[in-house]
Order: sequence, then structure tokens, then C-alpha cells
Amino acid sequence: MSEVKLLGTGSCVPEKIVTNDDLAAMMDTSDEWIRTRTGICQRRIVTEETLTSLSVGAAQRALESAGILAESLDLIIVATLTPDEPLPNASCAVQKALGAWNACCFDLSAACSGFVFALHTAAMYIRGGAAKTALVIGAEVLSKIIDWSDRKTCILFGDGAGAAVLGASDIPGFLGAAMGTDGAKGHTLTMHERDIANPFRTRWLSEHPVLEPAQSLSRFVYMDGQEVFKFAVKRVPESIGQLLDQAGLTVADIDHFVLHQANYRIVEAVARRLKVSMDKFILNMDRYGNTSAASVAIALDELMRSGSVQNGDYLVLSGFGGGLTWGSLLFKMII
Ligand code: UT7
Repeated sequence: MSEVKLLGTGSCVPEKIVTNDDLAAMMDTSDEWIRTRTGICQRRIVTEETLTSLSVGAAQRALESAGILAESLDLIIVATLTPDEPLPNASCAVQKALGAWNACCFDLSAACSGFVFALHTAAMYIRGGAAKTALVIGAEVLSKIIDWSDRKTCILFGDGAGAAVLGASDIPGFLGAAMGTDGAKGHTLTMHERDIANPFRTRWLSEHPVLEPAQSLSRFVYMDGQEVFKFAVKRVPESIGQLLDQAGLTVADIDHFVLHQANYRIVEAVARRLKVSMDKFILNMDRYGNTSAASVAIALDELMRSGSVQNGDYLVLSGFGGGLTWGSLLFKMII
């Protein structure tokens, strides 16, 4: 069994900045409403970029900071809800662009918790001996699955990608995880895919009278914001508490908290519940909005590049979102 450590990080966001005022010119909203309810001031939205180009940009920076060549990777996981194509998936497209020919590649879907779930999965591959060096990417082009006429959701989201490289190590850098899922509350954050329309299904439907009226299912993101808010402020502190209990640490031992950047008020509520100063929480939703699976990855990269992480620092990463899913990871920095 091998230990696991964080070797490097990277991120890449689209060029185009869309401010709250830009949105207010398109719909009935205001900079004041968005800022005070969410902490978001602007977001990046793709024009020319793709999920793959953003992922590759983030991956190249992460590989560079890790000092690793693409050929050394034996695992690539891309966490996303919005691959450019379902076939081939995003991880295969990234492998091709990087020339990472020795890597086994797959996508992972866990909504806004995706990067945390993928990082955990990669850490388990390495710990179990199935991989030595893994690239984990969280990337989204949410702008293509958002209903731009729904002011309750479209003002929240942005596009982007972040990446991390994990490697086998003698010293433990990855110290634990506390993950969870509540499928019963899945209806609070949804997006419908396509209908099953094969000839057998069509015949079956004609022979079986529909008992309930068909629901109108949106192919865009639907969110019950208040329910998701309540879920987040309950589950995130719980999972961080569980994680720290397992590791025999307390919140006072943690140097940096990197939470999913959904809403400033959620981070504030979590900090309050944990009784931790907001100074320890990374915040960048003002610049990028909620980038779903990319958010923790981008925030982690900004933290790593800020120069404020020292050898031996403890980091907690925490994601939460659709599913409902949530998860927290504990790392000790070995630099
Ligand atoms: O990444 C996945 C995880 N997602 C989240 O964590 C999101 C969690 N939820 C939230 O962050 C918040 O619930 C929101 C920011 C989405 C919404 O904030 P809220 O304080 O829950 O607002 P609300 O939905 O209760 O809406 C309050 C009012 C409503 O008007 P009335 O009914 O009081 O007259 C809305 O119609 O604000 C109105 N409203 C808006 N007004 C201006 C909703 N969206 C907008 C808007 N601009 N964009």
C-alpha cells in the first residue's frame, strides 16, 4: 500500500467576462441582488473554448507545477456534467490532447461534488497500488445547460476547469475522506436528458395507459435554491466534523478550507457553524461564480499559487451539490 500526496495544480477559465451588470441588461435582475444574495460579481462564459480545451489548459498547468510529463500519468479522471460529447468522453479527449498514452481514463459524474469525488477515487487507486500518478480534472461548461431565461439559476453559474496531480509517496499527504449521498433529495437539483424513444418503448407506452400526467421535465438545470442552501449548511459542517474526528484533528488544526464556491452566504454559514474565522476559507465566487465540478479545483489552484501554503499545512476540500452529493477530503501538504 502506498501513501498519496498532492504534486501540483492548475486551472483555466474562458476569456469572456460576464458581469452582473451585463446580466441586468439582459433580464430582470441587478448587480445589487446578485452580489448580496451570492457574493458573485462576475463569471467566465465560453465563446470559443470547449470543455476539452479548458480541461487541457488546466491539466498542462497542473503537470507543469507537478514537474510530471503526460506520459507518466497512469490515470486521468475528468469530473464533469458537461462533456463536449458523451462519446468519446472528456477524459479520452484530454488523454489524446496531452498524449498521455499510458493512462487509463474515465469521466465521473457527481455534479458540484465531482472534483472531490474524483480526487478521492484517484487517491484510492494510488493507495491500492492500481496507479502511481493520477491527473484529476474538474471542468464544466455550464453555460450550455443553463436556462438563460431563468434568472433564479443563470446568474449563479460560470464555466471553467481546474486540475490536480496526485502521486504515490512514502509520506502520507492524503489523510482521509468523509463522503455522502442522499438520492431521495435528488429532485432539488435536476436536469432531464433525452427521452427513451425506441420502437419497443413507444409500443409499450401505447399499450399501457399513463396513470399520471407527464411531468414537464426541463433539459436545463432546475434548482430549488433554498432547499439546496439548507442542505449545504447542514451537510458540509457535518462532513468536515466527521473527517476531522476520523483523523484525530480539530478545526483549529486546519490551515485552509477550500469549499465549493456556490454562495458566499453558504461559506459564511459553514464557517460560523464550525466556529472558524472566514480568513481560513478560500473565496473566488466573486470572480468565477459557481463552476460546479470545477469550483473546488480552481479554488485549490488559486490557493496553491498564492504562496500561502506551507509545508505541513492541513487542507480541507469540501464539495456539495446535485445528487444530492457531498464530500470532504483532508490533505497535509508535503512540499
Ligand atoms: O452548486 C450547487 C449548489 N447550489 C447552491 O448551493 C445554491 C444554493 N442556494 C442559493 O444560493 C440561494 O437559494 C439563491 C442564491 C439561489 C437564491 O437566494 P434566495 O435568498 O434563496 O432567494 P429566493 O429564491 O428566495 O428569491 C427571493 C426573491 C424572489 O422574489 P419574491 O418571490 O420574494 O418576490 C425571487 O423571485 O428574489 C427573486 N429573485 C431575483 N431577483 C432579482 C430570484 N432570482 C433573482 C434575480 N434577480 N436573479
